[in-house]
Amino acid sequence: MRIDIITVLPELLKSPFEASILKRAIEKDLVEIHMHNLRDYATGNYRQIDDYQFGGGAGMVMMVEPIDKCISQLQAEREYDEIIYMTPDGTTLNQRIANELSLKGNIIILCGHYKGVDQRVRDMFVTREISVGDYVLSGGELAAAILCDAVIRLIPGVLNDETSALTDSFQDNLLAPPVYTRPAEYKGREVPKILLSGNLPEIEKWREQQALERTQKRRPDLLE
Ligand code: ADE
Repeated sequence: MRIDIITVLPELLKSPFEASILKRAIEKDLVEIHMHNLRDYATGNYRQIDDYQFGGGAGMVMMVEPIDKCISQLQAEREYDEIIYMTPDGTTLNQRIANELSLKGNIIILCGHYKGVDQRVRDMFVTREISVGDYVLSGGELAAAILCDAVIRLIPGVLNDETSALTDSFQDNLLAPPVYTRPAEYKGREVPKILLSGNLPEIEKWREQQALERTQKRRPDLLE
């Protein structure tokens, strides 16, 4: 998979890819990340990328031309399966969307800033608009990092047995059951006996039951 990220703040998007699972995915050649500084596609002495909005009102709008130039140059080099715009008014990201995107070949992620991008960018190029939740971030970069993390860990070969996604929350529309490690007793709190029993079918049954109870209590909407 190849991910091209268009941003005005590439420095904000460095560290997520320099540690742990994302770093390993890149080293194993399972994903390529390419950053594009929108400023490099701006014209004029001031390398302007934003301007006042027509009709008045507070806040700047990202201009269509630099974004068009950047996306068009990328599209001239290869085909893209998705051009995703990170925006609080997009579809809320969930595990189903992350699963779907993990099977794509090439995607572009466009990070918005200020009041967002000129609507014509969305009309001309964007195939999908994604939000990471009902709150407003200062820009799309951290949202893009969240999306990349959720997607890349699902690319076949990225996770090993110990980090397998199969037992994650949401993977089958259930939250994950409680987990414990050593010691078996800590300050009077004991690990549930069943987990120490070695009876694998019973342990599996217990986990399913716990997952269901937790989901009913915390996220009944997932069961509807
Ligand atoms: N940009 C600003 N806020 C955002 C959000 N909640 N999701 C995606 N992109 C954003």
